[in-house]
Amino acid sequence: MIAPSILSADFARLAEEAEAVRGADWLHVDVMDAHFVPNLTLGLPVVKSLLKATDIPLDCHLMIEDPDRWAIGYAEAGAYNVTVHVEAAADPVQLAKDLRAAGAKAGLSIKPGTSIESCTDVLKHYDTLLVMSVEPGFGGQGFMAEVLDKVRTARRLVDTGHLNLVVEIDGGINEDTIAQAAEAGVDCFVAGSAIYDASDPGAAMAKLRALAARSR
Ligand code: DX5
Ligand code: ZN
Repeated sequence: MIAPSILSADFARLAEEAEAVRGADWLHVDVMDAHFVPNLTLGLPVVKSLLKATDIPLDCHLMIEDPDRWAIGYAEAGAYNVTVHVEAAADPVQLAKDLRAAGAKAGLSIKPGTSIESCTDVLKHYDTLLVMSVEPGFGGQGFMAEVLDKVRTARRLVDTGHLNLVVEIDGGINEDTIAQAAEAGVDCFVAGSAIYDASDPGAAMAKLRALAARSR
């Protein structure tokens, strides 16, 4: 699966930018609050407008403090998957239950320095695991290949039935890095600059999809 990240899109033309990646599995929406990460993007009002503007399921990645309080609004609005950071959540198990009860998939994201082992029990309650392959906050950063060990661990836990979730990767995914991520066992690839900085975002997405399929 490919999830184009609109962080690298033109924020004044989001409906058209979603249309440019028609056929995407998910549309990745980076919510940043200038506290959990040193950057500020968009929030629930923009997500509500996007939900009306596109049929692509929204994959909301909340890089915010206090997700226990704020994440539920995105699920209630109709986001397909709502991902919170384990480093920010006070009660991630309860949060997953609340997100699912509101009709969304529940996602848990881990920063590059956070281990899988520290949250294996929590992950039993989640539908997606978003492994960050850059420090969250900005698009266009270099891929951190060292996180692929965590992807391999997650893949093994899923394949042996210990976890039941989609393994997603976010940060630095492009034509040069997607093959190694696919080989490590990623199910869903987030890509921002590699898609939206291209002259033809739809074609760039198709190329990434083909490269991933060949390496899996
Ligand atoms: C970064 C965001 C990513 C970002 C990835 O904190 O979570 O979703 O859009 O951008 P690229 O693909 O350019 O690394
Ligand atoms: Zn993201």
